[in-house]
This record gives sequence, structure tokens and C-alpha cells, in this order.
Amino acid sequence: MQLSIKSLTKTYPGDVRALDNISLTIPTGMFGLLGPNGAGKSTLMRTIATLQDADQGSIMLGDVDVLRNKAQIRKHLGYLPQEFGVYPRTSAVSLLTHLASLKGVGDGAKHRREIVDALLFRVNLYDVRHKAVATYSGGMRQRFGIAQALLGDPKLIIVDEPTAGLDPGERNRFYNLLSEVGESVVVILSTHIVEDVKELCQNMAIIHRGQLKFNGSPSSAEASMRGKIWSRSMSKQELRDLQGFRVLSTKLIEGRPIVRVFSDANPGEGFQCAEPNLEDAFFFHIQ
Ligand SMILES: Nc1ncnc2c1ncn2[C@@H]1O[C@H](COP(=O)(O)OP(=O)(O)OP(=O)(O)O)[C@@H](O)[C@H]1O
Ligand SMILES: [Mg+2]
Repeated sequence: MQLSIKSLTKTYPGDVRALDNISLTIPTGMFGLLGPNGAGKSTLMRTIATLQDADQGSIMLGDVDVLRNKAQIRKHLGYLPQEFGVYPRTSAVSLLTHLASLKGVGDGAKHRREIVDALLFRVNLYDVRHKAVATYSGGMRQRFGIAQALLGDPKLIIVDEPTAGLDPGERNRFYNLLSEVGESVVVILSTHIVEDVKELCQNMAIIHRGQLKFNGSPSSAEASMRGKIWSRSMSKQELRDLQGFRVLSTKLIEGRPIVRVFSDANPGEGFQCAEPNLEDAFFFHIQ
């Protein structure tokens, strides 16, 4: 099973080209969709999730045309939107049971309740299942979001910026949960956090201003930068005077700037060749 996207284009009113002729093939496993704010990630994900239409292009899940068979795709889809909206004062167990019955999951109330309990156990919310979802922390809400996305054993799971706002512990728990899910189904995760992709995804794409900039594995993204990343520590004054370099990033280490530049050949001026990382590739493609 794979998802094939061909020439997908979407322009919003005001001539905002959110998707510009995107073609991508997404195999089973975790796929990272990396892009800065406004890149078009949510637009792409909502389109794959059959919640909005594109102007042009096609999406196939296996041999099913996604945009022409929305009802059929929705049965096999789990979706965690970027904004989940209002959290009701009902308990996790009753909300998930309600969502399960809407999705037609389970054979009768008893079976449905068993599925719901098993899912809440899996996302580690079983002990707090009778508490109102509105009182949950950000991480607990995201885990609840994953539980609802897993209802009905979906073949395609879409999670839109799921780690935004989570503390490091919650982020790790969330990673572990997702990576267990993501072995036999297609999981698409959008993020602007390079680490999310690096830790979780076998395959990835970088999009910027609606355009596909890179598609491949995180390690091949790094490899494409090999021998072309040069770094140097310098004073703040030297940094202000620096000209004629393609600067990818500037970080402070103990208050002193470390500059990373992209250059096919040794740029001289004391720059040392550095081991490339995924962040270099990300900055290279979004500049
Ligand atoms: N309903 C809409 N009407 C008009 N423009 C929109 C609409 N939704 C998104 N856009 C614009 O389309 C572009 C892509 O937006 P989108 O939300 O898909 O990006 P994103 O990568 O998900 O960004 P973020 O990281 O901020 O969530 C942006 O320029 C955005 O302002
Ligand atoms: Mg978004």
C-alpha cells in the first residue's frame, strides 16, 4: 500500500498558492512532511484527508482514487488535525465511545466499549479515562487525539504538527506511540521541528511556499550536504561584517556565534568543513 500524489495544486483566494504542483510517493511507515509556517503542510494534509478539494492533481491510496471515493477513504483514515477545536467536558471514555459509534467501529455497545478501553490503555490514558478531556494537559490531549485517530484500524494516518507545545517527556511518549503504529500503515506527520523527522521518519519531504524541495530519507538529505557545510566561530562584530556567504544558520554557543555556511568549495577565512545535519538541509531548501 502506498499513497501517490500527482501534480497537486491549490490556490486560495488572494492568489495564495498553497500547493504548487506537488508530486510525491509515500510508502508504508512514518513519513515526515517538514516545512516552515505557511509552507502548505496543513493544506496538503486536509486534502489527503478528503476535507478539502485541490484545484488540480490526483491522490491514489493503493488503487483507490482518494478525491473521487471520499466515503470509502474515510473508513480507512485516521486524522489528527492541527487544531482539534473545543474539548468537551465529557470524559475520554464517553467521547471516544461516541466517536467510535460515529465511525461505525465495533459490533454492538459492549464490543465498542472493549475497543475504546483497549485504545485508552494503549495511549496510556486508561487510569484517567473517566476524567473530562477538557482538564487534560497538552500531551494527554495529543494522546487522546491519537486514540481517536486509531479507531477502526486505519490504513492511512495523518497527524498535523502533533508535537507542538509538548514538553520533552510528553514528546518522547508521543514519538514512541506513533512509531509503534507506523510500521504497517502509511503515517504522515507534518512538523516544522527537524528533530521530529530525524527521530521518527524513514522517509520525508521538505516543502516551502507550496513547492516540493526535497523527497528522500533523512540520511540522504544529510548526505546531499556532505562536504558543503562549513562552520566557524566568530565574534558578533565579525558576524555583522560577514558578507558574500550563503549563511544557513547562526547559533550561539556560550554567547559566541557559530556560523554555518553552504559552499561547494572551501570558502577560506577560517571556515572548517563540518559534518552535515538535517537542519542544514532544511535551511538550505527553505532559503
Ligand atoms: N482557508 C484559507 N484561505 C486563504 N489562505 C489560506 C487558507 N488556509 C491557508 N491559507 C494560506 O495558505 C498557505 C499555506 O497554509 P497552510 O496552513 O497549509 O500552511 P502550514 O504549512 O500548515 O503552516 P503552519 O506551519 O503555520 O501550520 C499560507 O500562506 C496560508 O496563509
Ligand atoms: Mg499547518
